[in-house]
Amino acid sequence: MSRKTVLVTGANSGMGLAAATELARRGYRVVMACRSLERGEAARRVAIRQSGAADIELMLCDLGSLRGVRQFAEQFLARHDALDVLINNAGVITIKRHTTSDNFEAMMGVNHLGHFLLTSLLLPAIQRSPQGRIVVVSSGAHKAGRIHFEDPHLTRGFNAVKGYAQSKLANVLFVRELAERLRGGGGTVTVNAVHPGAVATDFGVDRRTGFGRSVYRLLRPFFRTPAEGAATAVYLATANEVAGVTGQYFYDNKPAPVSALAQDAVTAKRLWEWSEREVGL
Ligand SMILES: NC(=O)c1ccc[n+]([C@@H]2O[C@H](COP(=O)([O-])OP(=O)(O)OC[C@H]3O[C@@H](n4cnc5c(N)ncnc54)[C@H](OP(=O)(O)O)[C@@H]3O)[C@@H](O)[C@H]2O)c1
Repeated sequence: MSRKTVLVTGANSGMGLAAATELARRGYRVVMACRSLERGEAARRVAIRQSGAADIELMLCDLGSLRGVRQFAEQFLARHDALDVLINNAGVITIKRHTTSDNFEAMMGVNHLGHFLLTSLLLPAIQRSPQGRIVVVSSGAHKAGRIHFEDPHLTRGFNAVKGYAQSKLANVLFVRELAERLRGGGGTVTVNAVHPGAVATDFGVDRRTGFGRSVYRLLRPFFRTPAEGAATAVYLATANEVAGVTGQYFYDNKPAPVSALAQDAVTAKRLWEWSEREVGL
């Protein structure tokens, strides 16, 4: 049987690195998508050492740049005919309002729009897999969010929670709408969202944009390890019993409730259409 290929975004740290390592250990052909060559290469060496798999591939992808995502997709498709599993894991949280190179608010831009474009461009390759899977790392924080259609890039009244919760709600709505569209197409591709729990990673620690280390030092002992946090994404990527499950939100390997807004079909469709315009599809 030929090996399955999995692509993990934000694979150089935290849960992305843990998922990439575990999937390589299980025999998957892993492609790590990272925005920094230096951090990506260092992480690739860690993943190789810990998994024992020598052929882990590193590719550069900045999800904060539509041009970067398009270039990445082109290079990926030139090297790989089919993609069995896409794990949309990369994410940011920023204290102050930051923008991507396309002038998107950074959390909306990276957490949702960059992955929206990436998934759209890679979908033909995922559909060439016998049973393609898309796993979107969202968060319980989606429950605090709404989509601010009147000002989605939060040019007024920005705060970190508002922006992060909006982007993670966008992840769940994206899963809902994509699952709907894929069902209509009659294929075998599934798409599900994940809440990983509270996980001790470097998330939000960035000295320039984030919280710094002090909050984490206090809370770290109560958090899950990156491997524990990545376990549900790995489960959705690999388990036979979820091969036909789509459009769900999982926590601890089980479907879990989402907010009322996250179930709203009209909002999901509206977000999809807005996202298509934003990324130029
Ligand atoms: N930690 C938690 O408690 C928690 C809870 C719920 C959900 N989550 C979600 O879990 C996911 C993984 O986060 P983590 O906790 O493992 O944190 P992490 O260690 O900070 O990992 C985030 C990854 O995203 C990458 N990334 C950020 N901006 C990017 C960009 N523009 N282009 C490409 N990659 C980019 C980072 O790369 P760099 O190293 O280059 O910055 C890093 O590899 C995120 O989506 C987060 O929202 C985390």
